[in-house]
Amino acid sequence: MHVDEGEVFGFLGPNGAGKTTTVRMLACLVSKSSGRATIGDYEIASRADQPKIRKMIGLLTENVGLYEELSAYDNLDFYGRYYKLEEQKRKERIEYLLKLLELWDKKDAAAGTFSKGMEQKLAIARALIHDPEVLFLDEPTANLDPEASKTVRDFILELKKEKRTIFLNTHLLDEAERICDRVAILKTKLITIGSPEELRHSLSGRKVKVQLQRVDDAITSSVKEMGYQIGEVTANSLIINLKEPEKENPAILRSIQSAGGNVVFVTEVGSSLEDVYLKLVKGE
Ligand SMILES: Nc1ncnc2c1ncn2[C@@H]1O[C@H](COP(=O)(O)OP(=O)(O)OP(=O)(O)O)[C@@H](O)[C@H]1O
Ligand SMILES: [Mg+2]
Repeated sequence: MHVDEGEVFGFLGPNGAGKTTTVRMLACLVSKSSGRATIGDYEIASRADQPKIRKMIGLLTENVGLYEELSAYDNLDFYGRYYKLEEQKRKERIEYLLKLLELWDKKDAAAGTFSKGMEQKLAIARALIHDPEVLFLDEPTANLDPEASKTVRDFILELKKEKRTIFLNTHLLDEAERICDRVAILKTKLITIGSPEELRHSLSGRKVKVQLQRVDDAITSSVKEMGYQIGEVTANSLIINLKEPEKENPAILRSIQSAGGNVVFVTEVGSSLEDVYLKLVKGE
């Protein structure tokens, strides 16, 4: 598989699928047993290339591991020195990142006093200290509250604007759907790869829920007469099985209206990337 420059790429798969292992191989932390992988022009297996890869990538690991006794600022400063950044550059980068991740107020507090979410954000800042072109994020929003998750997601989109390549391991399908250009599903081997939209469309058949003030026989018949199958009927809703709601909905709604129905809401049922995921992962 190939990840394009400037892409936000989602890597999905069940526990034990090999997502973390893949990222650890790509980051040159464990060696591969077979196959070939490159980052930019560099080979992960080449000893000469490995330092260049390390310089080029940033990594947020599953267990963040900060220096608990050092302040947030000093944690970042340590890694800045490790990457041999000049003092002025380090200062600028640290201030920029801590402000962006809303941690600037806490810069002097010891990392050991941070909550899980704050630790996670500090670790993301650390992964970015040397301004890497490629960023690997292993479940960046695990443990974060909804507000902090949103901060991190918005931040990822901000990084995308800077043309960085982001490789994101995640279990959160709605997160993948919202921010990823393409996703791959892994279960020890690659099951599928494509944009969330392509994957949704690969499942034949979608479902639309039409909510009405009231459902009666005239309404259900009007839908059936058009050749559609009704999945479920309640006193005020219909679930209709369709191929392409974008094209088929308008005519269906006109027909419901002329049968006397008053439409209140029309929504697609279910998180469809989730449907694709569950089908593919169970099917293997
Ligand atoms: N160096 C290694 N050598 C052999 N097997 C390994 C090695 N590292 C990890 N594994 C195994 O590979 C499998 C995949 O683990 P990995 O942590 O990559 O999964 P994951 O997709 O990240 O799962 P999770 O969603 O739980 O984080 C596990 O069974 C693990 O024990
Ligand atoms: Mg993992």
